Amino acid sequence: MDIIAIDDPTDAQILEWHAVVVAAQAGDHADLPTLSQTSARMLARGPRKWAALDGVMAGVVWLRPPVEPGRAGEIDIHVRPEYRRGGVGTALLAVAADELRARGSGTVIAQVLAGTPAVPFLEAHGFRCVLTLRELLLRVADVDPDRLRALVEAGPPRYRLVRWTGTVPAELAGAFAAAKVAMSGPAAADQLRWDADRVREMAEMVAKRGDDLYTVAALHGDAVAGFTEVVVESANPARAAQYDTAVSPQHRGRRLGIWVKAAMLEWLRAERPEVTEIETDNADDNRHMLAVNAELGFGEQREYREYQAEVADLPV
Ligand SMILES: CC(C)(COP(=O)(O)OP(=O)(O)OC[C@H]1O[C@@H](n2cnc3c(N)ncnc32)[C@H](O)[C@@H]1OP(=O)(O)O)[C@@H](O)C(=O)NCCC(=O)NCCS
Repeated sequence: MDIIAIDDPTDAQILEWHAVVVAAQAGDHADLPTLSQTSARMLARGPRKWAALDGVMAGVVWLRPPVEPGRAGEIDIHVRPEYRRGGVGTALLAVAADELRARGSGTVIAQVLAGTPAVPFLEAHGFRCVLTLRELLLRVADVDPDRLRALVEAGPPRYRLVRWTGTVPAELAGAFAAAKVAMSGPAAADQLRWDADRVREMAEMVAKRGDDLYTVAALHGDAVAGFTEVVVESANPARAAQYDTAVSPQHRGRRLGIWVKAAMLEWLRAERPEVTEIETDNADDNRHMLAVNAELGFGEQREYREYQAEVADLPV
């Protein structure tokens, strides 16, 4: 079995890569939406990649190195069902680990579906679960427009709603970045630093992919008290993705979370009728956000787990 780097893949390699991922997913979780070839082509441009070859491509790994020092790298490994339990996954993990060591990265994370072979695989290699995420889905057609209107009209006094597409308007950039910082909580080693530049960069990244970023915020005076972001991908506009939603600590308990999310839903229904579903992830212990989403009609789809390991503990 050879392991080769494919950082600049040919179209044939991308298609073979895509076939491995689809076969691996079909084996474990057939109910997952299949990775499209368009998404595979986009993925193929980004991170570092290796493939295990045995005549055919038996398995693949991609590695997103840390975006800045101190943050964790991220890996994703896929092995065709007929090649499992033969050490292919371990060999692919080892080559990604080499790269992380060469870059001096301390930790690595992987996000996997609960109840699949990825769990014993990662645990066998020293990863531990650091976060459980519930994936939730809202079918827009199930939302009663009158109830939505009532929620939007029930905003608390002395707050007002603003909304924008793409990059935050210049006059709100500082206040919006401050709300992002408040959301992130106490400084953590691998936490992004949010400032006005970072906020702009994130919006530009979404635009560069050809996707649309929608933001609704609740203002209190000049401060952004809470906000919610949704991205509509050009490759899959039917299923919009919820990005961040947060309410600053001093403004909590006034139903601002449900207010901004209801306003977002109403906006999307009018502006992007092709959006039929909205997908979101909530940490298992985020009681408030889970309650807001349940009230809006989000239903639970599946459970993901985030695993983390020290690079020093990974196979060589
Ligand atoms: C997870 C995955 C990559 C493992 O690939 P693999 O080639 O079968 O892994 P390996 O053969 O190197 O397994 C190494 C060890 O992991 C553990 N392991 C792997 N699969 C297991 C399973 N189904 N049940 C129990 N233990 C398992 C075992 O300890 C195994 O060693 P052993 O076979 O000597 O007992 C593969 O199942 C897969 O492609 N899953 C779908 C994609 C996915 O979820 N990827 C996320 C991973 S980052």
